[in-house]
Amino acid sequence: MRINVVGTGYLGAVHAVCMAHLGHEVCGYDTDEAKIAALAAGESPFYEPEFEELLTEVLETGRLRFTTDPAEAVSGAAVHFVCVGTPQQAGSNAADVRYVDAAVSTIAAHADTPGLVVGKSTVPVGTAQRLSGELAASRAAELLELAWNPEFLREGKAIQDTLHPDRLIFGVTSEAAEKTLHQVYARLIERGTPHLTTDLATAEMVKVAANSFLATKISFINAMAEVCELVNADVVTLGRALGYDERIGRKFLNAGLGFGGGCLPKDIRAFSARAGELGASDSLTFLHEVDKINVRRREKAVQVATAMVGGDCLGKSIAVLGAAFKPNSDDVRDSPALNVAAAMHLKGADVRVHDPRAIANAKAMFPTLTYCDTAEDACRNVDLIVLATEWDEYCSIDPVAFRSVVRQPRLLDTRNAIDRDYWVGAGWYVYALGRGAMAPAEG
Ligand code: UGA
Repeated sequence: MRINVVGTGYLGAVHAVCMAHLGHEVCGYDTDEAKIAALAAGESPFYEPEFEELLTEVLETGRLRFTTDPAEAVSGAAVHFVCVGTPQQAGSNAADVRYVDAAVSTIAAHADTPGLVVGKSTVPVGTAQRLSGELAASRAAELLELAWNPEFLREGKAIQDTLHPDRLIFGVTSEAAEKTLHQVYARLIERGTPHLTTDLATAEMVKVAANSFLATKISFINAMAEVCELVNADVVTLGRALGYDERIGRKFLNAGLGFGGGCLPKDIRAFSARAGELGASDSLTFLHEVDKINVRRREKAVQVATAMVGGDCLGKSIAVLGAAFKPNSDDVRDSPALNVAAAMHLKGADVRVHDPRAIANAKAMFPTLTYCDTAEDACRNVDLIVLATEWDEYCSIDPVAFRSVVRQPRLLDTRNAIDRDYWVGAGWYVYALGRGAMAPAEG
């Protein structure tokens, strides 16, 4: 099947590569020439495990190409996936859908064969219906139809999530569109992937509801962490205990610094804004609380870190391990780790940041922080280590050896990632968010 993927950011590039891997003839289109040149040369513009290997593999088959020419991308394609970004609007909580609108207009302007336009971007509910009407009024009304097929991939696990998704959602308005989507995903459906056919609005809702639920689950356990800190209870054990209840489930109950990235924070805000437009603000008021709890965890980390260096950051040196919003990613959009680093810097501390993959992106966002090539370098002679993103390499740091690297053996574990007893046994004073402080035995 000949497939056009509009937008080769994180979602689009991964989708294009995976579609080609599944056997389709794919053309990836973007207006960003540097990105297209890199992808065409087999180089990934971002860090994602397994991505570059699969990109090289499918480029060699000849089934995948990239272009900045819209006519070349659109002409002859049976399916056009819309994979462009929907960032938060400046000065508002609503999503900015102008790239989605532009993508659909470009497809309509160049279509020369019958095709299905398939939205994958996360959009305000009702967008698909509006776009469907716009296509019907366009020059390509007889050629194009719209469907919505939301994406659920996670950064760091994008290839796995695309090739082995938990479910496929087909928002359609005709049997022909449903049949086309079945053909696109035939290999996944044959393998038994659950798939649901819905109307357009339900398909849009599935995505925003899923991200809202995940954000709520994280803020729930972080709200419990706030209470645990007051009564000397242990949120890690609490999360484990709750997770044994199959109705609750263990996943996304990791208390810590909360959620960041380019999706959950902006998606819950955009969903609330959309509910307001629909006259349903009350239904989603809780998402505002979810957001507030999330932001409070960053403030709490800054407060604890400040107390751990004696209440005054001036003249103190602090290592922040991690800059990405989560491990196995180089994405620093709304990164809790970088927010904490920047806040400590603002309070006068010399902040030394390390991340295995995200330094370049972090530097572009916060150029005034000190960036180090190794975790050990970042921690040299510091008064405090803040573990802010739980990369494997930080979790396997040897606290015995590291004791001689730092000035003061103090660790703030904001992700509940390290073996606290082991670190304390090695002479460290450890504060874990939602678990409180633990000091080494005297003498
Ligand atoms: C999220 C969703 O998980 C995907 O299903 C969705 O497709 C994607 O957004 C999207 O809308 O495109 P992602 O942003 O890649 O994926 O990252 P998550 O794995 O959801 O993590 C988000 C944040 O929550 C991270 O900062 C992570 O550290 C934090 N988190 C996650 C916690 O604080 N606790 C947890 O238990 C889990």
